[in-house]
Amino acid sequence: MDWCTTIVSLILGAFLAFKIYLRLTIGWCKSQTCLVGKTTIVTGANTGIGFETALDFAKRGARVILACRDQKRADDARKKIIRETGNENVVVKLVDMASFESVRAFAKEINETEDRLDVLVNNAGMLGTGDRKSSDGLPLLMQVNHFSSFLLTNLLIGLLKKSTPSRIVNVSSMAAQYASKFDIDTFDKHISDSTNYSNSKLCNIFFTKELAKKLRD
Ligand SMILES: NC(=O)c1ccc[n+]([C@@H]2O[C@H](COP(=O)([O-])OP(=O)(O)OC[C@H]3O[C@@H](n4cnc5c(N)ncnc54)[C@H](OP(=O)(O)O)[C@@H]3O)[C@@H](O)[C@H]2O)c1
Repeated sequence: MDWCTTIVSLILGAFLAFKIYLRLTIGWCKSQTCLVGKTTIVTGANTGIGFETALDFAKRGARVILACRDQKRADDARKKIIRETGNENVVVKLVDMASFESVRAFAKEINETEDRLDVLVNNAGMLGTGDRKSSDGLPLLMQVNHFSSFLLTNLLIGLLKKSTPSRIVNVSSMAAQYASKFDIDTFDKHISDSTNYSNSKLCNIFFTKELAKKLRD
């Protein structure tokens, strides 16, 4: 075996070992719980983790509200979900998590038109925004990844409580463990894309833990 074949074999072996490690250790939701009669909201539901979550809820019979910022991308996702699940109770409602005005308008519409809310999945997120600011003058990444989910949850808390036992899921990341230089007085400073992302994901965890305490009863 020449050295080139040896290196390729080592890389393939390492890749295979990594796949086996993931298969043995990774968490996977296999719940088959029937969600007929339940209403769910998934932010950022047109792609990625949000799309798969919405698809799973639809498969299990829920009413699924795709909370997305782009009408075309959201409509495409809706059509795909309906095609794959046969569940027609999938709707699109627009929300731009980079704007508090949009979040407030979305929550107002939900509160006025929905009888119940059983599951809220705060999934929408982004990375790599540099030091761009939102229209509210806050760091864009922090607003999309944390502040808007915080605001949305608080605006919908009455409906969620009314629908007890309801669930709020905040999608964080392992990247939270790399959060650093996080200080409430300087959170609006751009440090680096990766640090800001980690900090925003740490905020998701702080928020979740504090909310769990407040809603314990
Ligand atoms: N992928 C990973 O490995 C991973 C790991 C850990 C945690 N996460 C977390 O999981 C969540 C989803 O990640 P993903 O990998 O599925 O990402 P993705 O495929 O990029 O999807 C992100 C979603 O968020 C939406 N979004 C972004 N900005 C928005 C805004 N201003 N208003 C409304 N929606 C907005 C996107 O909409 P558009 O399509 O219109 O842009 C998209 O639907 C994020 O919170 C992320 O931090 C991901």
